[in-house]
Amino acid sequence: MHDSRLWAIDTPNTSYVVAVDEHDRLRGLHWGPKLSPEQALALLDLPASPFRPVVGREPRFDLGAGSAFQYGHNGLQVRFSDGTRDLELVFAEAIEGDGDLTFVFTDRHYPLEVRTRYRSHPGSDVIERTLALRNTGIEPIEVVRADSATWVVPGLDTPRLSQLHGEWGAETQLTRTTIPYGETVIGSRRGITSHQANPWVAIDDGEATETSGPVWSTALAWSGTWRITVEKGPTGSVVVSAGFGHDPIAIRLGGGETLETPIAAGLHTTGGFASAASAWHDYALAHVLPHPDEVRPVLYNSWEATEFDFTAEDQMRLADRAAAMGCELFVMDDGWFGARVNDRAGLGDWTPNPERFPDGLGPLIKHVHGCGMRFGIWVEPEMVNPDSDLYRAHPDWVYHQPHRRRTEARQQLVLNLARPDVADYLHARLDELLSENAIDFVKWDMNRPFTEAGWPDSDDPDRLWFDHTRNLYAILDRLRADHPNLRIESCSSGGGRVDFGILRRTDQVWTSDNTDAVDRIAIQDGFAQVYPARVMGAWVTDSPNPLTRREVPLDFRFHVAMAGVLAVGGDLRIWSDEDQARGAELVADYKRIREAVQLGRRHPLRAGAVTGVQYDRGDRTVVLVWRRARSFGYPDPLLKLHGLDPDARYRDERTGRVHHGAILAAHGLDAGLDPADYASAMIELTRLP
Ligand code: GLA
Repeated sequence: MHDSRLWAIDTPNTSYVVAVDEHDRLRGLHWGPKLSPEQALALLDLPASPFRPVVGREPRFDLGAGSAFQYGHNGLQVRFSDGTRDLELVFAEAIEGDGDLTFVFTDRHYPLEVRTRYRSHPGSDVIERTLALRNTGIEPIEVVRADSATWVVPGLDTPRLSQLHGEWGAETQLTRTTIPYGETVIGSRRGITSHQANPWVAIDDGEATETSGPVWSTALAWSGTWRITVEKGPTGSVVVSAGFGHDPIAIRLGGGETLETPIAAGLHTTGGFASAASAWHDYALAHVLPHPDEVRPVLYNSWEATEFDFTAEDQMRLADRAAAMGCELFVMDDGWFGARVNDRAGLGDWTPNPERFPDGLGPLIKHVHGCGMRFGIWVEPEMVNPDSDLYRAHPDWVYHQPHRRRTEARQQLVLNLARPDVADYLHARLDELLSENAIDFVKWDMNRPFTEAGWPDSDDPDRLWFDHTRNLYAILDRLRADHPNLRIESCSSGGGRVDFGILRRTDQVWTSDNTDAVDRIAIQDGFAQVYPARVMGAWVTDSPNPLTRREVPLDFRFHVAMAGVLAVGGDLRIWSDEDQARGAELVADYKRIREAVQLGRRHPLRAGAVTGVQYDRGDRTVVLVWRRARSFGYPDPLLKLHGLDPDARYRDERTGRVHHGAILAAHGLDAGLDPADYASAMIELTRLP
């Protein structure tokens, strides 16, 4: 196919076909079902289409750059030192590796090399794309936009966009809307991935369902600012361009420097939204997470129980209770260090508070380990309270601008992690903390977005938007390498930093500060569009819920949290003996099903007011089901299960009843819910040999 300058990136079920045209432009010709080489070549014979544009008409380029008459979103934009903006790229070569294809272009006149790299992994339909820009000259080049990927989606009648929007306490809200003409932009300008939008979108033809229809989706593996532009052209064609950075931030690429973009992963699936989600989960487990085969332990976190008001003894009492309930990892949250007895002081001073821990953390850690649990600790390394020793010593270490106020949020400022000296300092402090204490787990928090994001000493201050995240990644990578048993949770006021970039170097995420089980059903459903249950931290907390004041029965709270990485976050000191005992039973239930939940295949279930999830792994099927309220006394509808073998029989481990796969699929399962409000159940089915 190379005489035709056409290449196909094949995955088990899909082909992504690109061609370099007569003007050396890289075009997306096909992203869909798998094609043979002969079929792929036939794409070149197609009549004029969005893929074969005529001048002035919707040019659609896979490398979003390099054409006059391109008036839509341009994924690659640079400004050379003489002010020239247009790129004229000349195709140099295509380098093929194992599952890897790189196109090399150079500018016709200026010293810029552009490499666009595609990578696929065995067993996955995800295609990863990155861009690398190299300044081969001396004068700096300003990079205004460098999207990792510009995906060309085939023509669809009424293309629809699925996205995850939200805010603090209401992350990953799934919404599906018809795509308007023009550009739809989602992203973050906050320095973090953000609660407001998650870097993932899916496109379908407007008719896909949970179980049917083609879906094209993309996710950006980056935890700083980002932008995804979904552009619908006049004839309805859709291009999705994803990259780091935000307007009006530009990167200066010095002579000899290379800029590597993060991965934008693209995925085409058939079989509806649940299949797309499962393919993302499989990708995360096989190719993103550092310890994919591990099941996450049941964690206890002390935050909601104590907030800032505790002693070492309080933590020990909580640990005793958590251990009795079956928790396996005890995490002491905020309030253990420096002068941090409230949120006004101490951030930045990562030594134990001398009044609370006069003998250091050793006695508490010993106690927790003695209870048979691992020990974890909360840190928020990228921050300082102005009332801290660190800030008093280094007031210039925070992002700031001359003649501008330093706006505080939660009485804190953001450290300039882009500065190598600050990054080194933080790494050294954390390394010391981990080396001196037997800490098994870190909850790494980041509680406020950037403001006045300046770096007065730097001649290229915009760099901070990129280097902050890169240095964060580098610190995490070093800590992991030097402390191989350490496991890390990513948190940012709940789910403000959830993406495939952070997941490459962490083990789970804190999904949301909202632990209300009813709200969590929606948050978790959105989360599960992209990210697997294996990383989705879910605590059972007190009732009424501290945030929403909603009263929800214990079983319901547990059953919702059991759909992810179950944890307990309530004030166990005040739980009744009955709740403690029931909690212990439910933790034991979870341990039986967690392998299926965390590593299995997920399918959402909906039948009227009854919702739930099904997880399948091997011969085990687990169903978690919730119903808030019935109407008019009607009986609950049956829940139709998915993906079972119609000819097989399945035993319900609760009742011993044996069901036929065909009946469970066609008619459904009676979850046997209590008729009262807030009914829930966990059902374990075993496929009989
Ligand atoms: C953030 C986190 C919480 C908790 C607090 C502590 O809000 O999301 O879980 O750790 O910080 O200050």
